[in-house]
Amino acid sequence: MRPESIDQGENVPVRLLHISDLHFGAPFVPEVAEALLVAAKQLSFDAIVVSGDLTQRARRNQFIAAQEYLERFPEVPRLVIPGNHDVPLYNVARRLTAPHRLFQTHVSPDLNAVIKIPGATLVGLDSTAPRSAISNGRIHAWQLDFAAEAFADTPADWVRIVAAHHHFAPAPDYLHDSTMPKSKRAIMRFVDLEVDLILGGHLHRSYIGNSLDFYPGSHRERGIVIAQCGTSTSRRGRGREQQKNTFNFATVCKKRIEITHYMYFAEHGFIETSSHQFYRHASAQQPLLPRLDKNRARG
Ligand SMILES: [Fe+2]
Ligand SMILES: [Fe+2]
Repeated sequence: MRPESIDQGENVPVRLLHISDLHFGAPFVPEVAEALLVAAKQLSFDAIVVSGDLTQRARRNQFIAAQEYLERFPEVPRLVIPGNHDVPLYNVARRLTAPHRLFQTHVSPDLNAVIKIPGATLVGLDSTAPRSAISNGRIHAWQLDFAAEAFADTPADWVRIVAAHHHFAPAPDYLHDSTMPKSKRAIMRFVDLEVDLILGGHLHRSYIGNSLDFYPGSHRERGIVIAQCGTSTSRRGRGREQQKNTFNFATVCKKRIEITHYMYFAEHGFIETSSHQFYRHASAQQPLLPRLDKNRARG
């Protein structure tokens, strides 16, 4: 079936620009950032998600430059969450006492944030753990409750999106990085909350897939689409995206989720390199099947 035919009788889609890991500071590449702005201005979207690591070393001038850059994008609601590089690494005193002070002063006062646009609720979760797991990140149980509360009054046919800096899915190339601790617990809760899409960054290489690839869980027929963005404007790309810059463009319709992956080429700027289509299991039109019986499922 061609993707277009999935959406006959479609409602208005929700469109998102998803960028990540800007890394203002030494790794930041100004010409790539300008090309990203050019690409953004050629697209039409309802919100921007910036999934962390705005800076390289959490310095005031880096936050100010990052915020000034974000303000040059088209004026739509923006969900910006911190990454591990947005808390001080070497200044231990500041990391232990006020790790997010500069992010909150110059970028966003809310580390865990909710934005609502017509047809969608977006929940941003601060996955940084500056006092315990600075690189690996954490999502705490109270943050899952925070997401549940945000989605509680969301109409059944609205799109539900979660964004966090650290990765819920393993690295696509299985090089080194394991998933965020307790990410399975978070995925299971998000499935229960009927989240449609999870956005993230941190690995500096993209992954676009489905949580069922990693966590089959109890609802075998309903996973969550996961789109992890590479670094959009820095030279910190890794694995197959070494020296590469990328961003994602998400279109969520009533019955379909499409993620288009863009990559930067010096001679062309950012261009589409792949497009990924997923069926959307909207609760309003197709209720969840009952949970599998765990004992029977084992057999
Ligand atoms: Fe990063
Ligand atoms: Fe990171």
